[in-house]
Amino acid sequence: MEPDGDRGRHAPLRRVGRLRTARPFPERTDSLRYGVPMSQSTLRQRLAERTLRIRGGHESPYFQIMRRVEGRDDIIRLVRGEPDIPTPAHIIEAAKRCLDTGHVGYTPPGGMIELREAIARKFKEDNNLEYDAASEILVTAGAQESMAVSLQTLLDPGDEVLLATPHYMAYPANIIMAGGHIVYVDTVEEEDFELKPEAIEAAITDRTKLLVLVTPNNPTAGVITAETLSAIADVVRNHPGLVVISDELYEKVVYDGFEHISFATLPDMWDRTITINGFSKAYSMTGFRVGYMAGPADYILAATEPRHSLSISTSLPSQHGALAALEGPQDFMAEMMEEYHLRRAMMRDAFDELGVTYGEPKGGFYFFANISGSGLDAVDFAAKAVDYGILFSPGNVFAEGARKYIRISYLAPRDQLAEALERFGRLWNDCRSGR
Ligand SMILES: Cc1ncc(COP(=O)(O)O)c(C=O)c1O
Repeated sequence: MEPDGDRGRHAPLRRVGRLRTARPFPERTDSLRYGVPMSQSTLRQRLAERTLRIRGGHESPYFQIMRRVEGRDDIIRLVRGEPDIPTPAHIIEAAKRCLDTGHVGYTPPGGMIELREAIARKFKEDNNLEYDAASEILVTAGAQESMAVSLQTLLDPGDEVLLATPHYMAYPANIIMAGGHIVYVDTVEEEDFELKPEAIEAAITDRTKLLVLVTPNNPTAGVITAETLSAIADVVRNHPGLVVISDELYEKVVYDGFEHISFATLPDMWDRTITINGFSKAYSMTGFRVGYMAGPADYILAATEPRHSLSISTSLPSQHGALAALEGPQDFMAEMMEEYHLRRAMMRDAFDELGVTYGEPKGGFYFFANISGSGLDAVDFAAKAVDYGILFSPGNVFAEGARKYIRISYLAPRDQLAEALERFGRLWNDCRSGR
């Protein structure tokens, strides 16, 4: 069988090869290249201090875990936040049509105006938010670039940024690269990992510049309810210099009638909020790399130069795909949610039966599951899981202290997911009986 590395996850069940028994987790070797240990090259010794502040310049446990199973087709991968549901055909077609014209150049750094207009309409219809397409919306390479650009546009060295923990790992890295200082605000399983206004208030100092809100959240699948969001707006209102990034990338992936509210719609918040969103999760478009941010025109104007400096403009075929996503039929979304709903129920049933607890998964496509009952630390548990043919992330990828949690996605077809859950059950029971 042909090894297909990280994309093996997309293979239907029959293509998941037979489980191999060899232990797959060789310890990381600081490999020699051209006879020089990689960790001691001149370049390594000259790393910027801020790079060293990101895990000491060493590989994140997330990349380690992915690298260690490269080329293995016997692993069911529930590790990445990458929807396995195919991108709708009309989106692919629009990108192809753009390529066929042979004119695939740069666009203005803010993105092609037709796309910005479609995004402005989306904001109005879905979020009740008014943004001017030409001056208040910036298209970027994924929501991730919006995150990086806004942090670089706003932060001075030492500015404090409040970030809920556990959090999506690109936030700390981008805050550090922008010179900011991260102040973690804990969220807990007992409260379904909801960020609380009192915790935010307690963390604010005279150096706090920015609050990051991510709802629904990755990795915890928690959301911030309308009531809590309004109480958070009260806190923000009491601190005139405080500005907010509201990452709403998972707004479409919500369950049980939950209604997503955009923070910028709350009284006085539009003027001090950058709303970040994108196409990766809602339209299964991770590889297209299209995201966007919106905010007041004078902020967007200032952010345009940093954005241009990073990648000039977002890939044109991808922008055409994104335009088709917004302008085309939206029924795909209901089908997608129906599928996620079923998968979430499968996960819940399996975990409940085993006695694995978790924060209520209200949005996204993950469980942040408490595996302390296994008797293993999350890193050892995730390593052992590979022997059983499943891959997920240990919690410390998302918060240094979250070593009794794993993030496990349900981004695999149901037949594969059923197999993964059976393997998980065997792993769990073996751990509990000391095997
Ligand atoms: C909370 C959150 N924000 C931003 C991103 C970046 O998404 P993209 O750059 O694919 O739009 C991710 C990706 O998983 C995420 O989970």
